[in-house]
Amino acid sequence: MCGIVGYIGKREALPILIKGLERLEYRGYDSAGVALMGRGKIFVYKKKGKVAALKKFIKSKDKKSLAGGIGIAHTRWATHGEPSDRNAHPLLSNSENIAVIHNGIIENYLPLKKILIEKGYKFKSDTDTEVLANLIEDVKKNTKVSIDEAVRLALQQVVGAYAIAVLSKDDKETIIIAKAGSPVVIGVGKGEHFIASDATPLVEYTDKVIYLDDYEMAIIKRGKLTVKTIQNEIKNPYVQKLEIKIDELEKGGFAHFMLKEIYEQPKSIRDSMRGRINVEGGSVKLGGIEKYQNKLVNAKRILILACGTSLHAGMEAKYFFEELAKVPVLVEYASEFRYRSPVVFENDLVLVISQSGETADTLAALKLAKEKGTTIFGICNVIGASIPRATDAGIYTHAGPEIGVASSKAFTAQITVLLLIALYLASSQGTLNKKEMVKILSELENIPKKVEKALLTNATVIKIAKKFKNAKDFIYLGRGYGYPLALEGALKLKEISYIHAEGYPAGEMKHGPIALVDSNMPVVFVADKGGSYEKVISNMMEVKARKGVIIAIINEGDESAKKIADYVIEIPKTLEFMMPLVASVPLQLLAYHIALLRGCNIDKPRNLAKSVTVE
Ligand code: G6P
Repeated sequence: MCGIVGYIGKREALPILIKGLERLEYRGYDSAGVALMGRGKIFVYKKKGKVAALKKFIKSKDKKSLAGGIGIAHTRWATHGEPSDRNAHPLLSNSENIAVIHNGIIENYLPLKKILIEKGYKFKSDTDTEVLANLIEDVKKNTKVSIDEAVRLALQQVVGAYAIAVLSKDDKETIIIAKAGSPVVIGVGKGEHFIASDATPLVEYTDKVIYLDDYEMAIIKRGKLTVKTIQNEIKNPYVQKLEIKIDELEKGGFAHFMLKEIYEQPKSIRDSMRGRINVEGGSVKLGGIEKYQNKLVNAKRILILACGTSLHAGMEAKYFFEELAKVPVLVEYASEFRYRSPVVFENDLVLVISQSGETADTLAALKLAKEKGTTIFGICNVIGASIPRATDAGIYTHAGPEIGVASSKAFTAQITVLLLIALYLASSQGTLNKKEMVKILSELENIPKKVEKALLTNATVIKIAKKFKNAKDFIYLGRGYGYPLALEGALKLKEISYIHAEGYPAGEMKHGPIALVDSNMPVVFVADKGGSYEKVISNMMEVKARKGVIIAIINEGDESAKKIADYVIEIPKTLEFMMPLVASVPLQLLAYHIALLRGCNIDKPRNLAKSVTVE
């Protein structure tokens, strides 16, 4: 949440900062701002709204104030203080000598603010960040140290999560950044450095990056970088090679990133299994967890922790881990797990799932599980993010950068990788024999083609979307593997179209949701020919009897389901536990087209952010 960008070098900073903000806008987009180091002062421009509003605002400003090769910028997702010009970042200290941008929450900002007010500091915003700017100023005034030292000492008083970037008039050739809990990456160029919350804004300038660890700070001068801990221990930064390509960050002719990402699924699923399956040999190879194979095989239970769409992928995984590998699985919201007293055994295995690898609740749940002595595997999409770095072992989903806030291709990539782990475990334990493995893996290899076919439902889905674009509510129902999909389908619709939607296990319909059914209620059924097919058909009949309108995702040529449903979307048949990989597609498309017809901001839905780095 919130995007941070910075530049120091020979080029003009402003265009780099603005482009970086646009790349990071998926992290938050309620206000944006820049601070540029001028000769005599720091120029700060900020505006409520999206980066486009900031761009428009600065067009009329004095060109001289926009020039120069040092600056920091921010796109905000509000935590402390409503979205407004005055709460937008950068925040200046009282003397206007120090500008700070910040991602995260400073938990003890109120007592710090009280002390600063007693000392005579005035506050113009409601933010915790302004407290930090004045705290740094106060430390500097009292100790007469350099600005980087003042930042370091001030941070020792701070409790909470942060990634910050600081400019100071007292040292016009320096940007200081620091991190605890929220991500920040440094791009290393020739005589120049780039700073960003994640690597996406850096790709077009450099492929060399440094990820700061928690409680580390970097003092960046033109062409020179020093990394140390907040405790003042000098560190030797590890420079990594970035693998993302620039065209992965563009829309590539699609109207929205989300649509592009939906259409990328045949590729992202294929990429996520590439090199990991041997169909003829009936085996799965997972290099990332090889060293911990024993922990997986000996696990008495698997605990899956995640948030949002990643949790739904985990729910699908529970079903196939239990079906294929016969190991009990518990799936839990990371945000619940971390705040209760969970019972975790040493011979449990914890799987954390996160597209971004930065979700604060998932990271905290991971740390809690680690304290209890369990082995932790991560399934993440962003290489080098905080979660994969905190796990014992893990497997990356190779979905490529996902920019649309509502997750699509990451979800199916997660299911693919989870399925590979389940199969790896099942074959190691002997719950699946070689013949069965060969059969399953051949089907898995075929899945991208079936997903391509599912994408051909687009025209049908558009027709259905037109009929239901004004619906006030939706119910999504499914059983077995269809149940987490019902949750995910409803989540997609809520996220991007703002229509109220509820996902429910179809069998539970009679315990509540059926009371909502009338002729105005569209009910989406996941009605593939799996183990619960007959039961789902009965549920459809029950809805029909109450005049509900049925939209059913069915297997191609299922004539009986066609007779009952008002609208059908036909998808190819596959093995039941792979069905979610195929059936996700029309659910994503339905949400997309309804949102499009309603004129919603699909890639940046209101109030949401892609990377939720606050609790
Ligand atoms: C946010 C995003 C969702 C995502 C969830 C978990 O809410 O908008 O799309 O599913 O966070 O994110 P993660 O990166 O941990 O998968």
